[in-house]
Amino acid sequence: MFSAVKKTLRKRPVAIVRNVFFTAENMRSRVFAEGLKYNILISNSNLHIMSKHNQTNAIRIQTERTNEMEHSTPMFLTSSFCFDNAEEMRAAFADESDDNIYSRFSNPGVQEFVDKMCALEGAEAGYATASGMSAVFGSFMALLKQGDHLLSCNAIFGSTHTVIAKYLPKYGIESSYVGANATEAEWEAAIRPNTKMIYLETPTNPGLDVLDLAMIGRIAKKHKIILNVDNCFATPVNQQPIEFGADLVVHSATKWLDGQGRVLGGVVVGRKDLIKEIYLFCRSTGPALSPFNAWVLSKSLETLDVRMERHASNALFIAQALENHPQIASLRYPFLPSHPHHAIATQQMQNGGGIVCFELKGGLEAGRTFLNSLQMLSLTANLGDTRSIASHPASTTHAKLSEAERQSVNITPGLIRISVGLEHKDDILSDILQALDRIS
Ligand SMILES: Cc1ncc(COP(=O)(O)O)c(C=O)c1O
Repeated sequence: MFSAVKKTLRKRPVAIVRNVFFTAENMRSRVFAEGLKYNILISNSNLHIMSKHNQTNAIRIQTERTNEMEHSTPMFLTSSFCFDNAEEMRAAFADESDDNIYSRFSNPGVQEFVDKMCALEGAEAGYATASGMSAVFGSFMALLKQGDHLLSCNAIFGSTHTVIAKYLPKYGIESSYVGANATEAEWEAAIRPNTKMIYLETPTNPGLDVLDLAMIGRIAKKHKIILNVDNCFATPVNQQPIEFGADLVVHSATKWLDGQGRVLGGVVVGRKDLIKEIYLFCRSTGPALSPFNAWVLSKSLETLDVRMERHASNALFIAQALENHPQIASLRYPFLPSHPHHAIATQQMQNGGGIVCFELKGGLEAGRTFLNSLQMLSLTANLGDTRSIASHPASTTHAKLSEAERQSVNITPGLIRISVGLEHKDDILSDILQALDRIS
């Protein structure tokens, strides 16, 4: 009886696409017929709202509406999913259907978040993870094997450096670095016969170097090497690495994608064949995104576009106001003409993003006084929040690097990183200015 009711509900028409009438069931089989069940860019409930405008996709991609007719997407806080009979269950386990089995494999709310990220990044498929680091680590472990070589830019997030330098060698995976200012010839020269993946961040954390995605994308294509780009700092509303030849894009969703400092999350999107390997690795090893966090993150994506516009305009205002301050030795913001990679930044990014970095003339001691004098900005180990945040990378996120390694990626003792929030720009600036005044 209950089973019959459920079947009827499942067959309700849920979408009209180019005058073709889809029910939830035949859309599911259509998606499955098109490939992997986690190839979710065109997933069952989403066909009718895919738009050429990503602002719309970030808002309107949604799980199939239940018979409760909710407007906002529900939370699917469940570890596992039920089957009507043994045959359906067998078929799901045999990958003959795309039915959900267990939330370590898939979950409708997590899928919604991934659907949105695929639409925003222009990717074929994706998998969401518990944190940014599990997205990075999963992409390495699923695709690299003993004897392979990973070529990375040296200006990368501290924990990513730890994974590359400390853990990959345990699995017999070689690695080497090139500098953020490497020319095309230097990148070419660093490629080895066993180079399987190129990894980079742009803009980099925390030094805000901007790498030329088109140039590196060309090299990766030429040598048939996987290009894996951490797009955490820019977000897909600002830069879409796949457009420039990236095969994979990883994110710490903990940062701008959440945007309010509430949950940890990560996601990797890109080529379907590569995502399949990452999915299989993660499905067995367990770094799945929590369905609760997925709900929070998916809701956050609805406002990403407007948030990033304001973060960037506030950041540009702060950067311009501080650039010639007497306490500041140098300041970096990708959309200031003084930035060494300004030309590349304006070619591949829509705006300069929400991070501003500066080096205090007084070095470490001045940095300490500055941080201790802030009244509104938060001192916290995060970025990409509505609340402005100040941090000191040399003593926190990049403390595990040696002094020489920090110097090589421009992390000087007096470097301050500001994640510019959504408070009024005058309030952010006046707090920074009064803290700078305390230094002298
Ligand atoms: C550029 C970048 N990538 C990856 C990560 C790791 O993300 P998570 O903290 O979500 O694991 C971070 C965290 O700060 C980051 O800044």
